[in-house]
Amino acid sequence: MCGIIGYNGHKNSIKVLINGLKALEYRGYDSAGIAYYNGKRMEIIKTSGRIFNLEKKLKPNIQSNIGIGHTRWATHGKPNDINSHPHRMGKFTIVHNGIIENYEELKKGLIKKGYKFKTETDSEVIAALLDFIYSTEKDVLKTISLLEEKLIGAYALGILCDDEPNILYATRKDSPLIVGIGNKENFIASDVPAILKYTNQYIIIEDNEIVKIDDKVTVYKNLNETEKKVLTFEGNLEVAEKNGFDHFMLKEIHEEPSVIKNTTEPFLADGLESLIQNMPNFSQYKRIEIVGCGSAYHAGLVGKAIIEKYTNTPVAVYIASEFRYQKLFTDKETLVIFISQSGETADTLASLRKIKSQNIDSLAIVNVVGSSLAREAKNTIYIKAGPEISVATTKAYLAQVAVLSLIALNLGYKQKIISENKANDIIKSFIKLPTYIEDIIDKNYKQIAKTLYKKNICFYIGRGIDYALSMEGSLKLKEISYIVSMCYPAGELKHGTISLIDKGTNVISVITDKTIADKTLSNIKEVKSRGAVVTLVTTEEIANDFADVNHKVIIPKTNDFINPMIAAIPLQLISYETAKLRGCDIDKPKNLAKSVTVE
Ligand code: AGP
Ligand code: GLU
Repeated sequence: MCGIIGYNGHKNSIKVLINGLKALEYRGYDSAGIAYYNGKRMEIIKTSGRIFNLEKKLKPNIQSNIGIGHTRWATHGKPNDINSHPHRMGKFTIVHNGIIENYEELKKGLIKKGYKFKTETDSEVIAALLDFIYSTEKDVLKTISLLEEKLIGAYALGILCDDEPNILYATRKDSPLIVGIGNKENFIASDVPAILKYTNQYIIIEDNEIVKIDDKVTVYKNLNETEKKVLTFEGNLEVAEKNGFDHFMLKEIHEEPSVIKNTTEPFLADGLESLIQNMPNFSQYKRIEIVGCGSAYHAGLVGKAIIEKYTNTPVAVYIASEFRYQKLFTDKETLVIFISQSGETADTLASLRKIKSQNIDSLAIVNVVGSSLAREAKNTIYIKAGPEISVATTKAYLAQVAVLSLIALNLGYKQKIISENKANDIIKSFIKLPTYIEDIIDKNYKQIAKTLYKKNICFYIGRGIDYALSMEGSLKLKEISYIVSMCYPAGELKHGTISLIDKGTNVISVITDKTIADKTLSNIKEVKSRGAVVTLVTTEEIANDFADVNHKVIIPKTNDFINPMIAAIPLQLISYETAKLRGCDIDKPKNLAKSVTVE
């Protein structure tokens, strides 16, 4: 998603803005721009394309101590120079993250009042509306407050006014916004990495709070000053570096053992006692619904397979952008679990707000502390994945699966389907899981990637939990290598899609569930007989039944609670090595954004 940054302090604002935008690049964007006050007037420099293009347009030796910046992920208007941000109208210059749903109606009204628009964007309307309201109000704070009464949609705004050129304003609704607290300098940003070079002290801004930054930071709620807690970000700049890895994605895969340890420890430290004490009481619910987008949705599919196999609780999993518009069958005995790495995904947030309006209980499984989803859900379980920079999620997905697997263990034990001894054995396997992951990371996946990287199509097949896992494996491959990858339940391939299998077509199969292994064996034989190149990810106890495949990745035979997290690693690394051979922009795949804060 796009990112905004703002600065007011003693440093040269241009350098701070550019550094901040670079730290937000991982969110995905198509254009970039900055605005700054040069002592006489506001200047705007903006361009489509990468921040590199923006830097080439900068004049040398610009002097300024205040400014705003933006990386755009276009929603209204092509990604071109004129539509990029900042936008200026009359006395106001702004940057905007989000979508204004009623911008056409507002634009028509402003045109009637004599405003002339230069862009196709919804954001330019915000600048014009500010100028129009201010022309009678003559008070910026009040103007911003009145603006918010007229806007429908999502926004995080950085605002500069010609009449107060040394003051930076900001506000938000639904799109994320933080304030960085420095030493004689302060910042606004969409996310903490943008300010980490300068400070790790920050404030989370809530919806409709207005920020005023002159030589200090003041936050207003309903135009009254409000006290805000200053938080300390635990990560540091090395988080934003690659630590010698070629890509953030590879670095983050190598962090997975510690991520799993940090995420599961609070629930395992004192064995069953902490598993029961430190999780919400799930027994009060008759059914569970899981909601998420992309990889978060795929984590939900794995969670469903494990929870339903080991408890009496039915689980339904929904894609958030569908869930938010469909008829709800939830009731007081339903728990809706929302999965989101960023905690800012628009469709997931909208789905949470929909069930909250019906007083249904919610649990958020999120990574970003203090994110909107975490603050608005009834309960929250944080995965301890740390900042995930690569757009394609790996460690966060794995940690989401780990939490869902622990929920299955918690519920299965409380429903007396899993005995105390069995539960303790599973807990012991969770404690060994980081080691299993380290071992499987260290295998060589380059040979498999070599059979894949020149192809344009690939199939993933699996059954039950292995199908759920394959869904994520398929997404990983397509989103970073741009190979058209499709995932099918193994038994479904022969109902049509097998017509696409030709000599040399790659098929990747996951089999960790021995009870249905032989069924998938016959599906593998079906595709092999038609010339497919088959890679099998399976356990040591199943591997011997599968002689005739081209590549085998063997994972240790453990149990259904942790096997999915071990089997996911080869799928991530096969995608990574394939994308690397194809020379793709692995950490910032084209068109993708790390957090889709627009609908
Ligand atoms: C991750 O590899 C994908 N880029 C994407 O599907 C992501 O999982 C999805 O956008 C949900 O994001 P969230 O977890 O931050 O809500
Ligand atoms: N809707 C605005 C535009 O298309 C902002 C998009 C964004 O969040 O980057 O310019």
